[in-house]
Amino acid sequence: EWAIRPYKPLRGKKALVTVGATREFIDSVRYISNLSSGKMGMAIARVLRWYGADVTLVTAFTTENPPPEVEVLRVVSAEDMRREVLRLLPQTHLLVMNAAVSDFTPLEKHSGKIKKKDQMILKLTKTPDILEEVARSKGNTFVVGFALEEEEVLLQEGKRKLLQKRLDMLVANPIDVMGSEQHRGYILYPEGKEEVFSFPNKLESAEFIVKKIVEKITG
Ligand code: CTP
Ligand code: CA
Repeated sequence: EWAIRPYKPLRGKKALVTVGATREFIDSVRYISNLSSGKMGMAIARVLRWYGADVTLVTAFTTENPPPEVEVLRVVSAEDMRREVLRLLPQTHLLVMNAAVSDFTPLEKHSGKIKKKDQMILKLTKTPDILEEVARSKGNTFVVGFALEEEEVLLQEGKRKLLQKRLDMLVANPIDVMGSEQHRGYILYPEGKEEVFSFPNKLESAEFIVKKIVEKITG
């Protein structure tokens, strides 16, 4: 894959890609998570590698296999992912935050297995927003976020997250791309520009997104 693609605009750049759904354990056998195949993040990591970047994947739960020639770090929870991302941030030129990070985690985790009962109240607390923390110390790292939204609020919510998380680019996708081969959405920039895209598969979308990143970081 690598050798047949001579176009290497990202040679020498270190890219960090997060992918998959984090899991927040309630006890030793149960967890809270969310739907995310990890297809998009894996496709982006693959294309970044084609384009010459040194790629590290921080991967939570996913059904997809990582592409060749990328370093893979496995994590479980939002907190694990946060720790790895913040640790690697100083040496990262490009962060693509594609992971579906759980927004809530149990307030307390039981050791062992909870026995069944008629009723149970589970107390949850908010996880730290990794991108908002990254924004505080990112230096020159180019940061790309994702947002999955209902069609009616896609642009509005996408723009809000782009600004609130101080991103350099945000990819906003409608909910119906989940689990589907087809892929579409918008690329949003802090200057206010928006670009619409639609492709028959996620690898083509990934290549389109990476080309836009290349335009931005190699000027
Ligand atoms: N994200 C993050 N840390 C979290 C939650 C989300 O870094 N604790 C990142 C995601 O990886 C994604 C972006 O923030 O790149 C947007 O995630 P999304 O779930 O769409 O937005 P939230 O800010 O969590 O808001 P909500 O789920 O309420 O829409
Ligand atoms: Ca969320």
